[in-house]
Amino acid sequence: MARKLIATAYGEPSDVLEAAEVDVPRARRGAVVVQVRAAGLNPYDVKVVRGQMGADPDRLPLSVGGEAAGVVHAAGPDSGFRVGDDVVVYPASGALAEYVVADAANVHRKPAELGFAEASSLLLAGVTAVDTLATLQIDEDDVLLVHGGAGAVGSLVVTEAVAAGATVIATASPRNHDFLRGLGAVPVTYGEGLSEAIAAALDGARLTAVIDTVGTDEAIDVSLELVAPHRIVSVAAWGRGDDGIVLLSGGSERSRHYRRAAVEPLLTDAASGRIAVTIARRFGFDDAADAFDELLGGHPRGKIVFEPR
Ligand SMILES: NC(=O)c1ccc[n+]([C@@H]2O[C@H](COP(=O)([O-])OP(=O)(O)OC[C@H]3O[C@@H](n4cnc5c(N)ncnc54)[C@H](OP(=O)(O)O)[C@@H]3O)[C@@H](O)[C@H]2O)c1
Repeated sequence: MARKLIATAYGEPSDVLEAAEVDVPRARRGAVVVQVRAAGLNPYDVKVVRGQMGADPDRLPLSVGGEAAGVVHAAGPDSGFRVGDDVVVYPASGALAEYVVADAANVHRKPAELGFAEASSLLLAGVTAVDTLATLQIDEDDVLLVHGGAGAVGSLVVTEAVAAGATVIATASPRNHDFLRGLGAVPVTYGEGLSEAIAAALDGARLTAVIDTVGTDEAIDVSLELVAPHRIVSVAAWGRGDDGIVLLSGGSERSRHYRRAAVEPLLTDAASGRIAVTIARRFGFDDAADAFDELLGGHPRGKIVFEPR
């Protein structure tokens, strides 16, 4: 038997999360069973548990977790993997568990230089960041505003946009401004006075694009004052589609292509240290609800990582 984290109902994490005893999954043809060393927690997981992505009772109990890293425990025929291989699973289903089963197409070899925690928390945010930049075709001629530049998606957007030669302005709480400067962005504080702060950071330059990872009306309204809607890409402002901005869920053919193509380069770049994954906190079955609540708070300062123990 093995343990996995489940939500018995939709609701607050402290009310609905529990560790369930389940059978160790079997490896069917073309799939592998991975013993999870680490699994990245993402805002999406918290939204799913709280019923914000739909509350179909037929899906209960919910398995949680969209990415993991670990060691192949059992390899099905034609999977291309062997027992003992170190791997990253993305996209995963039910990754907050001791074992996760995945189709081989979603299993990637983990570079030896990359730790399990970092590997487990890289790809979901990373492919999203690449998708936003590729959709806008950001290059050295761009002056880009990033909302939420210190978050998991935002910090990778900033890193890659700076690497592409763009001028980058990014919003964050003041405590994250040095972090943003370190990535090569000009930091601005969100909240009251955001418009004026962005104008000061632009210093006469003309904004050419916006990537929003926050989804607030403040972020979208200030962006619409500065650029045409088709130059605003958001991964979070689901209520603002009528404004003509570009909403990316990863579901379109173009997004799927960008995201698939981004996986191997992201693993290579994280292994070489060109891009960084900061771990803010590690948690297990016992403090899972607390970790979910911390992410729900909206200011995690790095990735929150599940480690079964
Ligand atoms: N559509 C997709 O494919 C996709 C994929 C991945 C993620 N997402 C979504 O993208 C969003 C960000 O994900 P993430 O993993 O990057 O989250 P994260 O690591 O938790 O970062 C959230 C960031 O939001 C900032 N923030 C919080 N409240 C804010 C406010 N009122 N105004 C401006 N900034 C604020 C925080 O900045 P400070 O700490 O500096 O205050 C923090 O850096 C989530 O909504 C997530 O669900 C969508």
